Amino acid sequence: MSAERDWASLVPTFDMFDPEHEEWKYDGFAWAREHCPIIHGSPPSTGPRSIVTRYADVRQILEDPETFSSAGSPPVPAPIRLGALDADPPEHTAFRRLLNPVFTRQFALQFEPDMRAYARELIDAWVDRGEVEMLGEFASPYVARILARMVFDETDMDKMERAKQVVIRVAERPDDEGFFDLAVLSAEYLAAAIDNPPEREGMLRQLVTGEFLDGKPMTEDQAMGAIASTFLGGLDTSRSAIAAICLLIAQQPELEERVRDPRWIRNDMDEFIRLISPVASLGRIATRDTEVGGCPVKQGEHLLLRFDSANRDETKFPNADQLQFEPPRTGTAGFGLGIHRCIGMHLARVQIAVAMEEIFARVTNFKLAVPPEEITWAPGIANCPHAVPLRFDRVL
Ligand code: HEM
Repeated sequence: MSAERDWASLVPTFDMFDPEHEEWKYDGFAWAREHCPIIHGSPPSTGPRSIVTRYADVRQILEDPETFSSAGSPPVPAPIRLGALDADPPEHTAFRRLLNPVFTRQFALQFEPDMRAYARELIDAWVDRGEVEMLGEFASPYVARILARMVFDETDMDKMERAKQVVIRVAERPDDEGFFDLAVLSAEYLAAAIDNPPEREGMLRQLVTGEFLDGKPMTEDQAMGAIASTFLGGLDTSRSAIAAICLLIAQQPELEERVRDPRWIRNDMDEFIRLISPVASLGRIATRDTEVGGCPVKQGEHLLLRFDSANRDETKFPNADQLQFEPPRTGTAGFGLGIHRCIGMHLARVQIAVAMEEIFARVTNFKLAVPPEEITWAPGIANCPHAVPLRFDRVL
């Protein structure tokens, strides 16, 4: 950590949507965890927010949804509802009861042949070149196609490209216009599903035909929110994980052998997700006066939980800035903890596993094609590199 900075002055200015703060945020959070674990700031992009940096405090909040509500809690107030993501029990429980069955590992595995076919097609386009921009030429289109096929039954890739642009905009700089586009997009999918209920089992069918609360169907607002949050959760996260895992392998070539071993899926993937933390931060609102980490928290206070800072808390994960596979780390917060733990986690794991298997069937020896300092990360809700340019050898 660079000691020369005046962290006490700098850290309270942290703005998750300011691209310049990306460069120092991890050092700033490390300072905060030690000296001032709840940062009280009021950046123009979010207004007053209390940023929670320690693992134990983030965990306490995630595991107590009665005291820390998700309703209306996204980092920037969203003018639309966001399904399970911003619901509390009993509504949240009803969302999960309805949607969990179409987000199981078994359900995702039905689509494995499609995933492999998409991956191969994308790799074919660049494998002879000996170089690739891994985010744009593989991870983004691959994840978008899977979501299109599996969740939205969409075959029009131009529409999915539009969805991707809307989601990236909302994640990097949420404003009313971005949310409006997201609402329109979600409304289109919902209207099509209402007009023509899908025959195939899946999220859209569950939303328009399933029972929600007290035997009643969902309102259109609730269903649109579920669609919007699936776009947000599904498009900007796994793509970041795939691109960033490839980046880490280029920086630490010994990792390739680990990822080539199928056991990495069960043993190591969560450790990559911990270090990358594709979801950087989400919010909660205190429902009563309480205390977090010894600091008073007032009813109505907006808290921003830093999953990435919790995941690098040395008191929970020694040597936290490094990958450590043995002994395996437990309790990592990459997919969240508590009742809102990621519904798309099994899908994410399957698609990441298939991606890496297909990539390493064709290429080896990743090397960064630019100096490391040219790799920059997008600000906002997701931790995602802007681009990951790599060179490689072909597997003969
Ligand atoms: C590596 C990939 C992914 C990571 C790291 C990730 C991370 C997370 C995290 C940290 C949360 C907890 C939010 C909170 O507590 O407020 C979450 C929730 C959620 N995720 Fe993911 N996610 C990933 C992939 C996906 C995918 C592929 C989908 C859907 C297709 C998805 C959909 C959702 C939804 C709908 C929620 C809200 C669940 C609830 O509130 O009960 N995620 N995710």
